[in-house]
Order: sequence, then structure tokens, then C-alpha cells
Amino acid sequence: MIVIESTSDMRQWSERQRRGRQRIVLVPTMGFLHEGHLCLMREARLRGDWVVASIFVNPAQFGPGEDFATYPRDFERDRCLLEAENVDVLFHPSLEQIYPAGAQTFVEVEKLSLPLCGSARPGHFRGVATVVAKLFNIVRPHLAIFGEKDYQQLQVIRRMVRDLSMDVEIIGHPIVRESDGLAMSSRNAYLTSAERQAALCLSRALCKAERSVRRGAVTAAAIVDRVRAELNNEPLAAVEYVKLCDVETLDEVDEVREPALLALAVRIGKARLIDNRVLKH
Ligand code: PAJ
Repeated sequence: MIVIESTSDMRQWSERQRRGRQRIVLVPTMGFLHEGHLCLMREARLRGDWVVASIFVNPAQFGPGEDFATYPRDFERDRCLLEAENVDVLFHPSLEQIYPAGAQTFVEVEKLSLPLCGSARPGHFRGVATVVAKLFNIVRPHLAIFGEKDYQQLQVIRRMVRDLSMDVEIIGHPIVRESDGLAMSSRNAYLTSAERQAALCLSRALCKAERSVRRGAVTAAAIVDRVRAELNNEPLAAVEYVKLCDVETLDEVDEVREPALLALAVRIGKARLIDNRVLKH
């Protein structure tokens, strides 16, 4: 695996592969890798000739008072994990490489960025869309893979690619979970052991909602109440949102007629955890 730190070296490498008609797959990350990230790398391996992973903790997607400074980082460990997955290139740019002084251009996916995590984290998706657009311009992948764990992020990126006529195919990968159901996340590292146990309320609540839909529940009110009751049962959990949305527009829906996205965000200790499931009859 080669490690590339400068945008010009990255561009040159990609240009060479493109000239040789090789397909490049990009998996963008912020590092502190876990099995969820590694599953994305394996999917990438199956889909192209060259796998590029990027690690960049993107300050633009963190709000004031959020965890940018304390976001977990362990570059050496990440490098070894990616090497073991046969990743070809690790792109690890510095802050200055990605954000040269004086930048004043940003990508804003307007409507999709507003609900759910967007309302609690204003500017977050503008930061995500901007950095992902830049990574696409630097790495020039044919294909890029994102996890459905960050469902709204995936939809924002799909919309950006369509709206700006970007020449990259976006692939969503299902949520990867621990054996007890907790969705994997770099932020799980913030949890104490009691909080780790408490965090199971998210996946448990999604399972209960799925079961109630299977038994015939259709109204959003009934489903959301069921989920809130389950989450409120957990004293360490503070619910940020529980919403039932259209799977593409993310507009709230009143009923599960078509498949609908049940999305939730919950604070447990220092961690803000998100999880989701697509519910269908
Ligand atoms: P990060 O949180 O490091 O996640 C990198 C990728 O891994 C994202 O596409 C995310 O959805 C996916 N992922 C994380 N946990 C997952 C899980 N349990 N199952 C499946 N996929 C999972 O998301 C970001 O970084 C950043 O916003 C980024 C896109 C890199 C832009 O800065």
C-alpha cells in the first residue's frame, strides 16, 4: 500500500491508472477505523481494480463546540488495518492540502441537508458535501462507497453527484453491527462500559418498530411512540430525534405505505449516536 499525502501526487497516481483504463474505487473516511469501514474496503475490492481509502478528519463538518479536537485518531493502527485489507492507496492529506487559505467556495445540498442530523448540526452537510466533492476532484474515482449508517449523508452525496453532473457512481453499503446489534461507529469509543450497554437501546428500538410494522402498525405516530418509549426506558439515553421519513427526499411521512426510513439520534454520555432502518410492509 502506498501512502499519498499531497493532492498533486494523488492526482498523478489517478491519472496514470485512468490512462491504463483501470477502475478506481474510493472509500472516504475520517479514520479510527472499525469493522464497518473495513467492510466498505472489501466491497471496494470487489468493484474495481484499485482501492483508494482516504483518512481526513474534516473540520468543516464539525460545528463549534463539537468533537473535532477530541475526535479519536490513530493513524498507525489505521495504516496497518488498511494494509491488511490490501488497500492500494491511503490518501492522507494535511489540512492545508484540502483547505488552502482563502477558500470561499462550498457545496450546499439545500433541502436534504435540513432535517434530521442537519437540524441539530447546522452546516454539517455543507462540510461533508464540500469535502467529498474535493476528494472526488482530487482522487477522480469511478466509484465511491458510503455506509447506510449515515443514511442522510449518503442521500446528500447522491443528490450532489446528480445536481453537479459529477462522473462518479455512488454505492451504499448496509449498516455493519456488533454481534449484539450496536451499529459500529468511531464514536462508540467515547462510551463507558455502562453507556455501551445502554447504547443497545437504539438497535433494540429499531427492531421493535420493525416488529410492530410487521404486525400491522402503519401510522408514523404509533411507530415513533413505540420507539420513543423504548429509548426513554433507558435512563442514560437522551433522545435527539426519532423520525419516519421518505427514503429519498427525507420528508416526514405520516404512514408506512411505501418503504420508509426510521431514523434516530440519541445522546449517551459524550457520544451522539445515530442509527436507522428502512421499514416496509
Ligand atoms: P466516517 O464516520 O469515518 O465514515 C466513513 C464511511 O464509513 C462512511 O461512508 C460511513 O457511513 C461508513 N460507516 C461508518 N460506520 C459504519 C457502519 N457501522 N456500517 C456501515 N458503514 C459505516 O462519514 C464520514 O466518515 C465522513 O463524513 C466522510 C464521508 C469521510 C466525509 O468527511
